[in-house]
Amino acid sequence: MTTYLMLLSPSANRVYRQATAVLSAAELAVTASFASDIVPARIGSADALRFTADEVDELVLAAQSAHLVSFEQRGELLAPLDVPSLAVFDDDLVTIPKYQGKTNEGFTRLLLHLTLSQVDRPGPLEVLDPLAGRGTTLLAAWQAGHHGFGVESDDKAFDALAGYLKTYLRTKRIKHSAQVSPVRREGRALGRRLDAQARLAEATHDQPARPGLPTLNMTVFTGDTRDSAALFGRKRFDAIVTDAPYGVVHGSSTKSEGREPAQRSSRRRDRSPAHLLAEAIPIWRGQLKPGGAIGIAWNTHTLPRAELVGMLADAGLQPQDAGPWLGFAHRVDAGINRDLVVATRAAEAERGLTWSP
Ligand SMILES: C[S@@+](CC[C@H](N)C(=O)[O-])C[C@H]1O[C@@H](n2cnc3c(N)ncnc32)[C@H](O)[C@@H]1O
Repeated sequence: MTTYLMLLSPSANRVYRQATAVLSAAELAVTASFASDIVPARIGSADALRFTADEVDELVLAAQSAHLVSFEQRGELLAPLDVPSLAVFDDDLVTIPKYQGKTNEGFTRLLLHLTLSQVDRPGPLEVLDPLAGRGTTLLAAWQAGHHGFGVESDDKAFDALAGYLKTYLRTKRIKHSAQVSPVRREGRALGRRLDAQARLAEATHDQPARPGLPTLNMTVFTGDTRDSAALFGRKRFDAIVTDAPYGVVHGSSTKSEGREPAQRSSRRRDRSPAHLLAEAIPIWRGQLKPGGAIGIAWNTHTLPRAELVGMLADAGLQPQDAGPWLGFAHRVDAGINRDLVVATRAAEAERGLTWSP
């Protein structure tokens, strides 16, 4: 057995920095079957993880959400490992936007990685955030080389994401298209959609072609998440990754039965996301491909873990609810204790009963 040290990238956020080592240890335990005896450690004044392994898989280390650099310990010496970077965009794609209610970017990468670790399919994958806000999940998905899709009820958040993405792609001189257009059904305006595409491999006038890099798509609708299936139609996703309303900054809204999507503006504000999640999870489940996975972050002060796990199981999903999967709860502030849960949709295609004479 060899001892390894993984240096963790420092978070700008003090609270999240304190939680990073513990969360990263649980992330490594869930996603790296080769690693054992995982414990938080220090290298000088920097946070790290120490673990033992017979052999490491560098690609698995590269996918860790807070991975900075890894070393093999040889006596008193640390020999750096050759861990590739999996990012297809610079970090600043995700870190530039700053606003109240933004999900911490390190935590978003963690939730995305844990969810995608349960999807046994080669990328680029199609990731839906049905409570997209200003798009931290979608930007993190792009950075990791996956497509991003979203639904968001707050027009201002949608506008901020659309504006930011256009500016970013233009400023970075990335070949792209990005437009916002109205969504109509039977002549009535239902909302808007953002469609963006980044063609990362294509040359620009000051940058040579970068073959091997993907072309990534992003589509975001304004609207209610419970209309997500109607908005995306028959489209299915490899993963759903979302940070539910905390019942503090955002609140959630409760469905007014029998109304058309565009008429639901008078929904009651609700301090718990429980009603919203109970209604939305069966809809989201229908949008997952067989073999897909869903990852949800939420505030346990507003909804006990067992209740959310029950909602996922009732919807026919298999929640991960044992061992290191129980190691992700952490305090954000006095009103928020954040946790996450990942559930999978069985890989076998569901077939109707067939009868042959
Ligand atoms: C915790 S925030 C997500 C923040 C996002 N991850 C980000 O970093 O920008 C939850 C989001 O859900 C949205 N939301 C709440 N209820 C909704 C609903 N019924 N349909 C669609 N979006 C909703 C809120 O407007 C808010 O942007």
